[in-house]
Amino acid sequence: MQTELSGQLGIERAVFGFTPFPAVAAAISRAGGFGVLGAVRYTAPDDLRRDLDWLDAHTGGRPYGLDVVMPAKKVEGVSEADVEAMIPEGHRRFVRDTLAAHGVPELADGEASGWRITGWMEQVARTQLDVALDYPIRLLANALGSPPADVVARAHDRDVLVAALAGSARHARKHQEAGIDIVVAQGYEAGGHTGEIATMVLTPEIVDAVDPLPVLAAGGIGSGRQVAAALTLGAQGVWLGSLWLTTTEADLHSSALTRKLLAAGSGDTVRSRALTGKPARQLRTAWTDAWDDPAGPGTLPMPLQGLLVAEALSRIQKYEAEPLLGTPVGQIVGRMTAERGVQEVLDDLTRGFEEAVDRINRIAGRSGPS
Ligand SMILES: Cc1cc2nc3c(=O)[nH]c(=O)nc-3n(C[C@H](O)[C@H](O)[C@H](O)COP(=O)(O)O)c2cc1C
Repeated sequence: MQTELSGQLGIERAVFGFTPFPAVAAAISRAGGFGVLGAVRYTAPDDLRRDLDWLDAHTGGRPYGLDVVMPAKKVEGVSEADVEAMIPEGHRRFVRDTLAAHGVPELADGEASGWRITGWMEQVARTQLDVALDYPIRLLANALGSPPADVVARAHDRDVLVAALAGSARHARKHQEAGIDIVVAQGYEAGGHTGEIATMVLTPEIVDAVDPLPVLAAGGIGSGRQVAAALTLGAQGVWLGSLWLTTTEADLHSSALTRKLLAAGSGDTVRSRALTGKPARQLRTAWTDAWDDPAGPGTLPMPLQGLLVAEALSRIQKYEAEPLLGTPVGQIVGRMTAERGVQEVLDDLTRGFEEAVDRINRIAGRSGPS
């Protein structure tokens, strides 16, 4: 599973792993892939510094990267309190009623909600960037838009490659114009924020649109066969997010959630605005059903929705309120049926990839060159 890009980065397998967990990112890099730590939850620079210290000490000198979220639409000059004040009371009531209907207890006094809006704000992403550029990261990835020119320039000054996620060829071309180095073509099947085009259609479109920029295929990839398909479509590697959620190194803080993921089929996700206000693929739950119900108040735009539901999500997670409990995850969840270590996952991808390539070679050999 080696390509020009994996050679450039000095990794053995062209598998890039997005994960919110430092232990998973480190294990991916140690196993010869490329671990990318998601920074959105780090609203305090010291927390990010602590985890990057740890990551840097546990990758065995292998390269790794960081993913920040700088939305194309900026939320600047507005405080969290300003945004808070824009949330209608009816929506707050709906959150309270939905939690009450499922008997979810309150958080204890002073217990902060884990997930904050501020990770979506450009000034916070910039603080994350300031911290990250003190570390020998090899890649900076940006979700939800093209990174600003000065960010690209700062990364390039430090020899850091810049990647950005794209859900359409138009977005990919915008990224190319912004001077980035790698496009992640992320299809509709993916966990997290997604567009409307499937990976099978999107990948070759983006490969052609941004040629000669390297493209990574993302969305719905969980086996070596799918890695082989992605490379056949012209990608220089794959970018996986969901598959790591059920690895033994992941820390979901909830065994009930792990059980739900392992039991879910490929039809058990939904692309819903319930989490952030933008369409994001996640497990379908009583929570997403409530928000997507036409009888409800409907979701608010980003960043209001994220702020509105932050505490509720902490409560649901803390008390493992099973019907409401969910996470961003893609359709590949249907193939995530057992907890495995990261090394085993990568070995399995490699084995499956080699078998797929052998099979294609046999087929091509049998039919003869046309
Ligand atoms: C739990 C979870 C959280 C995610 N959060 C982010 C994020 O903060 N930034 C980002 O660029 N992508 C995020 N993604 C998307 C991944 O980077 C990746 O594109 C996607 O998971 C690939 O598709 P797959 O889920 O089918 O592997 C997230 C995905 C998951 C599953």
